[in-house]
This record gives sequence, structure tokens and C-alpha cells, in this order.
Amino acid sequence: MSAGAKLMGIGVHRASRVVPNSEIVDRINSTDEWIRTRSGIVERRWANDEETVEFMATNAAREAIAKAGIDGSQIDLVIIATVTHFLQTPSLATKIAHAVGSTGAAFDISAACAGFCHGIALARDAIKGGTSTYALVIGVERLSDITDTDDRGTAFIFADGAGAAIVGPSETDDIGPVVWGSDGGNYDLIRQKEDWMELVTSDSPGIPHLVMDGNPVFRWAVFTMAKVAQETLQKSGINADDLDVFLPHQANLRIVDALARAVHLPERVQVADDIIHNGNTSAASIPLALHAMLADGRAKSGDKALMIAFGAGLSYAAQVVTVP
Ligand code: COA
Repeated sequence: MSAGAKLMGIGVHRASRVVPNSEIVDRINSTDEWIRTRSGIVERRWANDEETVEFMATNAAREAIAKAGIDGSQIDLVIIATVTHFLQTPSLATKIAHAVGSTGAAFDISAACAGFCHGIALARDAIKGGTSTYALVIGVERLSDITDTDDRGTAFIFADGAGAAIVGPSETDDIGPVVWGSDGGNYDLIRQKEDWMELVTSDSPGIPHLVMDGNPVFRWAVFTMAKVAQETLQKSGINADDLDVFLPHQANLRIVDALARAVHLPERVQVADDIIHNGNTSAASIPLALHAMLADGRAKSGDKALMIAFGAGLSYAAQVVTVP
């Protein structure tokens, strides 16, 4: 058992192909200007053939392990959040555990864009409860595989990449209690269009594309997540003035800005904006954003950060963490 848990290291894999808006707009009768003003996205990264979810997750994991200063064999829990590992079984997590030298418990979770924060919550509770010492949590997606490039509502949003964190024991609560939940009444707002059985038995089998009713998702995110953010701060016993970094899921820059205003963040708080150059990478978006902010100095070790993630389900999870 440990008094608390902490983030020890963050690693990423950024997909290699940079795709500017100009490459997307013709097929969806849109413009660079529309995409920038409505979503904040200037370009996104899509994986090449070599950059499978396994490849990207392993790379991100190796960097996180090196940064944490542990050996892969010390990891006794591996949790992978993804919706784009196309084998229903076995999990991607057992494969990645093996790749990094771990024989720990390993499983995948499906909580879409909220998956990384769900994984951090599970790892934190396992460490505090004494069933794990070092956990590897990964968010990885190849959303380009399930994006319909002719769909005006989604073609410009989704992207690929991986982000990983090592979670380990701490004398203090450097990962605060999670606030999480779901709103299954809105199950259909973001979803895979067809299930696998429908696809394989159809006359024209194809890829299970994502479909999204963007506008209600936008309104739900701003309204509901503002309350979740406040509740998360309260549960951690702090207020917005105590924060240094704001790390919301990178779904849309307007949602990020609206949440920052709703939480009354002081001006000095650094706000993640990874969506501008990386698009929406779902479960990978928060660790990718944190990694970028650590690299350019906007986030520093010891900073207090509020992570808040939301997406298909609808599902959400949020917690306050100390930046590693
Ligand atoms: N290019 C140009 N115009 C477009 C367009 C596109 N790609 N998509 C829609 N439009 C048009 C619509 O036809 C509509 O035109 P009208 O006013 O003449 O009827 C107008 O733009 C507004 O459409 P709307 O769907 O209301 O846009 P929006 O402001 O809600 O922005 C999203 C669309 C997708 C950017 C926004 O809803 C969003 O980001 N939603 C949440 C996404 C999200 O968080 N997803 C992931 C959760 S994990």
C-alpha cells in the first residue's frame, strides 16, 4: 500500500505524416479558414503504414519508462486506452507489456477520448490499494483508420498518436481523486457507424467509420465539463488559483477556451493547445499535450495540473495531478 501515487514520466509517439487543412478541404467542401475558426486545427498528424498502434504505444512506453528511471520488468500493471486496436482479443496491453519486459496484469479499456484519465484513475487506486507498484498507462489511437474522409463533420478533426505515463508510489497524493461518470442517454452522439457483424455480413464490407453529431457534443462538453472541472478541484481540496497548467482533452480549441473561462483560470495558468498542430487524438491527446508543454517549458516538474477528458459514451474523467 502507498499513501499516494504520482506520475513519474511521460512518453509519446507523434505520428509522422503532417496533414494540413489544405489536404482535407476539397473532399468536404470546406476551407482552411472554417476549420481554423471552428476547431482551432491548422494541421494534424496521421500515421504511416509502419506506425501501427502497437508500434506507437511501444515507443511512447519506452520513453515514459526511461523518463521514470525504472526498468520495464518493475511494471506490474499495464492499462491501454484505445478504440483503434482492431482485435477484440487478446488485448493490446499484454503485447506492449511483453515488449517492455513486464509480466504484470495487462488489459485494454474502452472509454474513447476519456480513456487516458480513466487509466490514470485505475492505476492510482491500484497503487494506493497495494495491488500495483508501478503502472504503465497508455492512450493510443489511429483514428485516421476509422475516419471517413468525405464526412464534413469529422474528416478534419481526428488524428493519430500515442502518449504514455508511468504511475508509481508517492508519500503524498500527487494524483488526486478522480471525478468520472457517463451519460449513456447520449450514446449515439459519437459512435462507430456499424458494428463488426453488420460489416462482415454486408454486401460491401468496409471500415467501421466514426460518426458524430458535433454540435450537441460541443454544448454538452462546455456545459457539463465545466461542472466536472469545478467538482474535481473541490475534491482535491484546491481552487483554480492553485493550478499552474490546464490539460483538457484536445477536442476543439473553442471547447478548451470555453472551459478555461468557465473554471475562472487565472491568466498565468498555461492552457494546452496541442490540437492546433496534432488534431484530436482521442485517448492520446492529454499525454501528448503535456509532453509538448514540458518540452517547451510551459509546464514544469512540480506544477499542479487539472486533466479533464470526455468523449464517446458519453464518458468523462478528470483529476488533479502533479507534473512529473
Ligand atoms: N466545413 C465547412 N462548413 C461546415 C463544415 C465543414 N467541415 N461542417 C459543417 N459546416 C457548416 C454547417 O453546414 C453549418 O452551416 P449552416 O449554418 O449554413 O447550416 C455550419 O457550418 C455550422 O455547423 P455546426 O455543425 O453547427 O458547426 P459547429 O460550430 O458545431 O462546429 C464542430 C462543428 C464539429 C467543429 C463542433 O461541433 C465540435 O467541435 N464539436 C465537438 C467535437 C468533439 O468534441 N468531438 C470529439 C469529442 S471527443
